[in-house]
Amino acid sequence: MARELSKTRAAYQKARQFIPYGVNSNFRYWGPENTLVVSRGEGPYIWDLDGNRYIDYRLGFGPVLLGHAHPVVTERVAEAILGGTIFAWTTPAEVRLAEQICRITGVDKVRLANSGTEATMHALRLARAYTGRERFVKFEGQYHGMHDYALFSTASSPVGALGSRHHPIPAATSSGIPVGLRQYVVVQPFNDLEILERTLKSCGHELAAIMVEPVLGNAAGIPARPGFLQKLREWCDEYGIVLIFDEVKTGFRIALGGAQEYFGVRADLVTYAKAMGNGFPIAAIGGSARVMDIIEGGGVAHGGTYTGNAVGVAAAEATLGILESEAVIETIYERGQALSGGIDAILNRAGIPHCMTGLPPMFSYILGQEEPPQDFRAYCAGDDALYEELVMALIEHGVMPDCDGREPWFLCYGHDEEVIAETLTRFEAAVKEVRSQMR
Ligand SMILES: Cc1ncc(COP(=O)(O)O)c(C=O)c1O
Repeated sequence: MARELSKTRAAYQKARQFIPYGVNSNFRYWGPENTLVVSRGEGPYIWDLDGNRYIDYRLGFGPVLLGHAHPVVTERVAEAILGGTIFAWTTPAEVRLAEQICRITGVDKVRLANSGTEATMHALRLARAYTGRERFVKFEGQYHGMHDYALFSTASSPVGALGSRHHPIPAATSSGIPVGLRQYVVVQPFNDLEILERTLKSCGHELAAIMVEPVLGNAAGIPARPGFLQKLREWCDEYGIVLIFDEVKTGFRIALGGAQEYFGVRADLVTYAKAMGNGFPIAAIGGSARVMDIIEGGGVAHGGTYTGNAVGVAAAEATLGILESEAVIETIYERGQALSGGIDAILNRAGIPHCMTGLPPMFSYILGQEEPPQDFRAYCAGDDALYEELVMALIEHGVMPDCDGREPWFLCYGHDEEVIAETLTRFEAAVKEVRSQMR
């Protein structure tokens, strides 16, 4: 029997009257029938307005690493805001947080921001200011936020718009992006050293930055191949390019020290957001003193009224404190392994061709192809329609990954063994339903 959704649907109709598509981010729009209105979240669960409970694997697109409404984080924020939230001066809490981020990630210096978009936008400006160059490399299928500079050839771009693999075209992901910005973006297929080497030979000395998501958090979690990031490091040194790791999704999730620790490669600048605040708005740009100190010469703008506000800072201090003192990431790895292994086994038993992708804390699977893709173009060969059908059936069973296969399944500390077992039981039921309709 289908879920009762009358209150949720009525609330969505009201939302649609006042908010375009009824959502405050286009990524949250699943069409007029399937866009939910949610009342609350706790631990690994969220509830819609009709009281339907879902085991949540979207986790707000990744940030909620500890679980929704984690009591320690919530209390620290509540306590902090009693003393006021912004003062246009540095607070001791900001200094403690900066020191904590430097200790955990190995960056020398940090500036705070409120969102991943702000962080990547500022990182790009710093790289340009540092090098005196304007163009930068970004990889196809990678998303670095909503600013115009990086909204080219993201995972939202149709593969047909990307041009030939050997001569990719920067495809604007949205109307409203000035055509002239294309000249600054050099798009490349991910994980392809041969094409990148050729590109660098022709324009390496014109590049301010190579900006890379070390794991494609916006295209099924495809990880960098062994040696890929090491080679980027080497070439950035050779050509005087600033290497930027966009760790908005991987930071504090795939290892305590993020992708730098996981892959053993150091970037010049790193952007963090999502997991560092367990769902509160906070972000950071960190990096070597050599690059970060370009701000101190004056003339390089970084700012924002709300940067370093007490809410985000308290949330981040509390979250990172828990990550430093408890085996959160190890636990998430174990649970993610159990879940992705279980999903793999169920799909095998059902005879559905697929491959598993990503890392246990942010994994996915692609239906209809058995070879794990190395880049966004290869990802696009999967069967998105079947993926969505299966997820929509799963949601009826109370398990909520994103219906878009590009968005990985995110694990949180609140997904305990029981929750994982329940998810697998429900996944198997959903697969059986979809399988029976396929026959
Ligand atoms: C890798 C990456 N960079 C940047 C962003 C932008 O972050 P925000 O949505 O906080 O602006 C995202 C958002 O999903 C992301 O996944």
